[in-house]
Amino acid sequence: MKVAVYRVEHFNAAHRLHNPEWSDEKNQSVFGKCNNPNYHGHNYNLEVGVFGEIDPDTGYVYDLKALSDLIEEKVLNKLDHKNLNVDVAEFENLNPTAENIVVVIHDLLRSEINEKYELKIKLYETERNYVEYPV
Ligand code: NI
Repeated sequence: MKVAVYRVEHFNAAHRLHNPEWSDEKNQSVFGKCNNPNYHGHNYNLEVGVFGEIDPDTGYVYDLKALSDLIEEKVLNKLDHKNLNVDVAEFENLNPTAENIVVVIHDLLRSEINEKYELKIKLYETERNYVEYPV
């Protein structure tokens, strides 16, 4: 019997969507306002889901305090109040779209969580736009 447990977190970050292989015109036409050369910010909401069996000793699937601490250490310390393009090595050559950010977050956490658990990450860039990985 598998149960999903979730921790919801929040961070603010700035980014610019830009493909250096393209002309300014093409970047502007594909990314619009998100191509603004001076960056812009988002209030990201992050949901980290861990799926697994209930431990009969604790009654927990995964200790949510431990999950919260892990997200803070590995993800929030890296991304919160940062300019993703400039401050975060993972995006030096990777466009910081919500899609790419959610994969980076997943990979930062995956190596820290035992393989017996499934991990699913949702990232809300706005109230109405969110991405999920893996699917
Ligand atoms: Ni944006």
